[in-house]
Amino acid sequence: MKNIFNNTLSKKDLKKEVTLYGWVAKKRNLGGVIFIDLRDRSGIIQLLIKPDNSNYKLASSLKNESVIKVKGIVALREKVNPNLKTGEIEIEVSDLVLLNTSSDLPFEIQDDTTALEDTRLKYRYLDLRRNCLKEKIILRHNIVKTIRDYLNSQDFIEIETPILCKSTPEGARDYLVPSRVNKHKFYALPQSPQIFKQLLMIGGMERYYQVARCFRDEDLRADRQPEFTQIDMEMSFIEESDIQNIVEGMMKSIFSKVKGIELKTPFKRMTYDEAMDKYGSDKPDLRFDLPLYDVSNIFKNSDFTVFKEALKDGVIKCLVINDSNNLISRKKIDKYTELVKVYKALGLAYLKYDNGWNSGIFKFLKEDELKALKDLLNIKDKDVVFFVCDKKKVANVALGELRNKLAHDFDLIDNNKYSFLWVTDFPVFEWSDEENRYMACHHPFTSPKDSDVDKLLTDKEHCKAKAYDIVLNGYEVGGGSIRIHDASVQQKMFEALGFTKEEALEKFGFFLEAFDYGTPPHGGLALGLERLVMILSDTTNIKDVIAFPKTASASDLMSKAPNVVDEKQLDDLYLKLKS
Ligand code: AMO
Repeated sequence: MKNIFNNTLSKKDLKKEVTLYGWVAKKRNLGGVIFIDLRDRSGIIQLLIKPDNSNYKLASSLKNESVIKVKGIVALREKVNPNLKTGEIEIEVSDLVLLNTSSDLPFEIQDDTTALEDTRLKYRYLDLRRNCLKEKIILRHNIVKTIRDYLNSQDFIEIETPILCKSTPEGARDYLVPSRVNKHKFYALPQSPQIFKQLLMIGGMERYYQVARCFRDEDLRADRQPEFTQIDMEMSFIEESDIQNIVEGMMKSIFSKVKGIELKTPFKRMTYDEAMDKYGSDKPDLRFDLPLYDVSNIFKNSDFTVFKEALKDGVIKCLVINDSNNLISRKKIDKYTELVKVYKALGLAYLKYDNGWNSGIFKFLKEDELKALKDLLNIKDKDVVFFVCDKKKVANVALGELRNKLAHDFDLIDNNKYSFLWVTDFPVFEWSDEENRYMACHHPFTSPKDSDVDKLLTDKEHCKAKAYDIVLNGYEVGGGSIRIHDASVQQKMFEALGFTKEEALEKFGFFLEAFDYGTPPHGGLALGLERLVMILSDTTNIKDVIAFPKTASASDLMSKAPNVVDEKQLDDLYLKLKS
């Protein structure tokens, strides 16, 4: 067995004989002496083979990425390489064995690569040899290890829940698996272990966690994969603040152990309503401020048609950015307008203050309105005000997205900062235009606030939940809630979500039945592991933190999954394909 990793060697090992295994990362011939960079998981060490060495010929013929075994003596390097952990030493090789060769590579194994992502995904096992990717996978391991250690120390127990489950509506579309033994029946892969972890609480486990694989057939984005991992937790006999404290302790532990950063707790807290009103997002990035302002009042008697029309059933909201370097051109404004339109805003109005109001919509506004605006927003020279006037939610969301874009364009984000936030008091329901009905904002098992239980059927718009998300640098890294633990409230919730009694029984009967046998008050949270690892490894691409990720069309370019299956397999499953 290999028992030395390259990076464990240093000057303290001088003159020791060592046996090393790894890949030929690079080979140079300098004045007859061959230098090889030997790479293993831990890093690179330099090998030196002189012309009088019996292995010289073999060494000269080695191709990059060949796998070798070497025996040699640790020696001091003539010229230190400060970029390598082993930069002060090298190995004077006495024995060299070629264990395996490599074909010509589809791309160079180096951090700075020009290889297309598709090529790297096709040869993911080569991509994983690149240091920058390998480090992220190791960081992920270290984070998971720290989480396990922490939760074990807090009396949690790790329990696995099924992967072949019953399809129950939870939010996204299910991945289905046909059953061979049960003709015409299907399993669903879990979107999360939500129901099982609640059943574990009813089963008396009290504190559960799982590094849980989850599957969701939804449109993919830079921070979404069809299969991903949650750090899933559930606890009995707790309140919201208990779960938040546990998660804060876990984050403290991760940041301290993995990053050497001591986080300050408690994290900031903000209600959902405040986050939407002030930052136009339920996951605001608080590494910068750039708040939104509601200026409807200033313009309540405006003659400007756009404002007047909007105020009939909406609001006028704005944000201010200082453009001292004149970055905001006409073209930029068009781009920003396109952006807000993606989020359903009708348009984007603007005003610029440059020795007085002198561009944008100022001609349509009254003197006293402009003065009130200047006072409220504390306008300075070169400030640009962007307005969206629309229904409240549209105005908030569109400006929230513009806020992020401006922060990016104006370099307002300190990339070395980690800004945590708890967003609390989410609505129980959210209106879905596509479905034309209210849907669960978190999931159907989330407890409404005690004061809102009676409003479940009568005033959905204003029901608030005991639900919270944890946000880090503008990413939702986790979400959870206190659960309903009373069968009648759960039944009422299903009714509010539009399930008939029969449908609720058919889908969730087993779950509702369990509520009748002594259900403890309980709640929990799930962290999106990949999102956390992404942030801690400074990438915005979720694929970078998954060993074998899928593309945006949910396929694996290496194995070519999903693939067609043969007729016999379909027959076994009683399936016929529709064209
Ligand atoms: P939720 O659906 O909010 O909650 O998921 C929890 C966290 O999982 C991450 N996440 C994802 N990460 C990558 N790819 C995806 N497709 C994806 N979808 C979600 C996010 C998110 O915050 N059962 C509840 C948790 C609970 O109530 O305890 C749940 O699954 O970071």
